[in-house]
Amino acid sequence: MAKRQPFVLALSSSPRKKGNSDILCDRVIAGAKAAGAKVEKYYLNDMTIKPCVACGACQEKRIGRCVFDDDMRKLYPLLKKCDGLILAGPVYFFTVSAQLKLFLDKLYPLTSENGLKLGAKRAVTCLTYGAPDALLSGCDNAARTLNDIFTFANVPVRFIHASAWQKGEVRQRSGALKRAREAGQELVAG
Ligand SMILES: Cc1cc2nc3c(=O)[nH]c(=O)nc-3n(C[C@H](O)[C@H](O)[C@H](O)COP(=O)(O)O)c2cc1C
Repeated sequence: MAKRQPFVLALSSSPRKKGNSDILCDRVIAGAKAAGAKVEKYYLNDMTIKPCVACGACQEKRIGRCVFDDDMRKLYPLLKKCDGLILAGPVYFFTVSAQLKLFLDKLYPLTSENGLKLGAKRAVTCLTYGAPDALLSGCDNAARTLNDIFTFANVPVRFIHASAWQKGEVRQRSGALKRAREAGQELVAG
């Protein structure tokens, strides 16, 4: 029987298209495609994602989505069916950007007493920051948040990160670019 083509969902959260985290995201995508995956990519900054207001309806009714009619309606089915998940974004004020945090909070409808239920069997995150040192940048806070979420979801995650301030500067970080492509290939490895 023919093997099903793996499906990867990529969410790029920087408002700077073709910026540093988006470039790393595209490298991961290239690796995943080279390994045979079908990839769908979305820019969170282009989507309308209303913040969670703690109404509790998603938990009470176990509907598996937020009651708000926003662009998460498009993402929930993809989050459930994807085999691999890529989250990319810049460090803003020592943690994840608002665009990414809006999305992360809206994972609440996919939680239960058993944790967070995603389709993904593996994940890759790409974080970029302007400070020369990862610790001073606040990247550790962003990585800690994402690591806790993927631990909650029982999904192994690989972190790709690089220091790059100006738009596109990450193209000079050959090590990070190489690791990003490899991570994409690993994302869909059997
Ligand atoms: C509003 C804002 C806040 C930022 N906060 C930080 C920060 O806390 N630490 C840091 O090292 N860089 C910070 N930066 C720099 C970005 O993280 C850096 O330029 C990153 O590579 C941008 O990624 P992008 O090109 O994908 O948008 C900030 C940039 C902006 C615009």
